[in-house]
Amino acid sequence: MTEHATAQPAGARPRVLSGIQPTADSFHLGNYLGALRNWVAMQDDYETFYTIVDLHAITVPQDPAVLRANTRVSFAQTIAAGVDPQRSAVFVQSHVPEHAQLGWVLMCLTGFGEASRMTQFKDKAGKQGTSAASVGLFTYPILQAADILLYQAAEVPVGEDQRQHLELTRDLAQRFNSRFSETFVVPKAHVLKGAAKVLDFADPTAKMSKSSPGGCIFLLEEPKRISKKIKSAVTDSEAAIRFDPENQPGVSNLLEVLSALSGTPVPELVAGYEGVLYGTLKGDVADAVVALAEPFAARTQELLDDPAELDRIMASGAQRAREVAARTLADVYEAIGFVPPAR
Ligand code: TYM
Repeated sequence: MTEHATAQPAGARPRVLSGIQPTADSFHLGNYLGALRNWVAMQDDYETFYTIVDLHAITVPQDPAVLRANTRVSFAQTIAAGVDPQRSAVFVQSHVPEHAQLGWVLMCLTGFGEASRMTQFKDKAGKQGTSAASVGLFTYPILQAADILLYQAAEVPVGEDQRQHLELTRDLAQRFNSRFSETFVVPKAHVLKGAAKVLDFADPTAKMSKSSPGGCIFLLEEPKRISKKIKSAVTDSEAAIRFDPENQPGVSNLLEVLSALSGTPVPELVAGYEGVLYGTLKGDVADAVVALAEPFAARTQELLDDPAELDRIMASGAQRAREVAARTLADVYEAIGFVPPAR
């Protein structure tokens, strides 16, 4: 790696890349606890690249005006969550054409069977039927690998549901390095211990997801609605607050969320709730989530109210990202034997 143009200089901070889809008009609590809060924390020790993955968003049917609006809202929310555009390159994926270009190269290195084993494709295609699903939805994890490898990222902060895509990314990086030349850093998933999989409040056997809005806490939702959803969270009839994800998934989910938001370890919370009814725990979770969501929504709105400034931040993020992405792509093209264009 060291002799290669894409290698970072000795002593440089390792790189991080992560992405989020602009497929809703608000991020949800799972996005925040599973990924975003970690994006913020990693800015201190890493050189960080964060992207709103609009190319991924078109793998399912979408409306152009809605996509445009959701991309801006997602970008604003990323900054409102604490990602600092001075310290991190924050950008929109389609502003950096190298993602699609490297994606194609990696598709040509991926086996059809290998891509077929991705469980998220099966889940997402399942809803619309495999034959109705787009080829883009099928190759989506390979584009995700390109997102990561373009930046030579060592760590990728994500929720639990992204692990399999990270394994594919590692396999593709190693395959490219051994088949051609040492070009890519082989990245690792950086999954937090608590709240890496926030569960649906209405159905604690499922992951919280925007596709089930009833049990999903959207951070830009009215505080009253947030509270109401949390206070009616499905629990169980045990009537004892214990951390037992197997038998008491609803209560355990509430405890994990509260622990992640308050910084109090789960066992300490459990000890404090001895002999207390579920309603008290739910009320505390609701207060903690609203305390996060209210200033977050206000900051997001402030950013959206100044579209020229948002455009400027987008442009400067894309420029920083392209500097790195273009270098990696040039190395990749050389390694696979493309004739460089004459200058
Ligand atoms: P997306 O947009 O579905 O989710 C963004 C991030 O939120 C995390 N997440 C959760 N974490 C905990 N509990 C939940 N219920 C929950 N739901 C979502 C996800 O793990 C993710 O970290 N394929 C990615 C986007 C992507 C990407 C990338 C990520 C594209 N390229 C490169 C990392 C690196 C996705 O669909 O995330």
